Amino acid sequence: MKDNQDANRKLIITDGVFSMDGDIAPLDEIVKVAEEYDAMVFVDDCHGEGVLGDGRGIVAHFGLQGRVDFEVGSYSKAMGVQGGIVAGTEQMRLHALNHSRSWLLSGSQPPGVAAAQKAAVEVIIEEPEHVQRLWENTHYFRNELESLGFDTGVSATPIIPVMCGESSTAKRLSSAMRDSGVMVGAIVFPMVARDKARVRTQMSAGLNRDDLNQVLSAFEKAGKSIGLI
Ligand SMILES: Cc1ncc(COP(=O)(O)O)c(C=O)c1O
Repeated sequence: MKDNQDANRKLIITDGVFSMDGDIAPLDEIVKVAEEYDAMVFVDDCHGEGVLGDGRGIVAHFGLQGRVDFEVGSYSKAMGVQGGIVAGTEQMRLHALNHSRSWLLSGSQPPGVAAAQKAAVEVIIEEPEHVQRLWENTHYFRNELESLGFDTGVSATPIIPVMCGESSTAKRLSSAMRDSGVMVGAIVFPMVARDKARVRTQMSAGLNRDDLNQVLSAFEKAGKSIGLI
């Protein structure tokens, strides 16, 4: 930022929650730096909405309301519906409406999507126990995976990777899980660094303890069968 402090317009862009590792951007520190250097901040909080800040996202998580210039998000992650969100100042809203190619040139969304989006947001805002259950499941599942001897990397959210190292190990783990009836995708280079292959799990508030234990048993069996634990 120092190197560009004399630029006319400065913009810091970050994800809120990083989708591969499930770690959280230090948005509080980013905003401090932006304010110090008169830069704008843009956050893609696709993976934080419905999860952090009682479901309201990373800006609420850090109490930064009014200090982040742009936020984009998606209904397709925690809310399980199609569509996206763009939020910002009125000036930015008008800019986006008039200049966004995909918005200008796309057809409207299918019938029923708007109602489904509204219902999904209502669940998050009006049923705090839903988000609480997501976090309870997350803590339980991550702790149990770690007790079994798996490495869940730097995850601090319901995105929980099981680190495997080599791509071939991740593929073998994914395949062994499938043999136990659990589908988990292997994520390998170039999605992640060559030595950071993993299978990635995403927690849901809709799962109960029996569901989680069933998946954990499958992980234990699969992890032992390929020598990962
Ligand atoms: C950080 C991030 N932003 C945006 C998107 C786009 O989401 P969608 O096109 O499903 O709304 C994704 C999807 O994976 C994502 O991970």
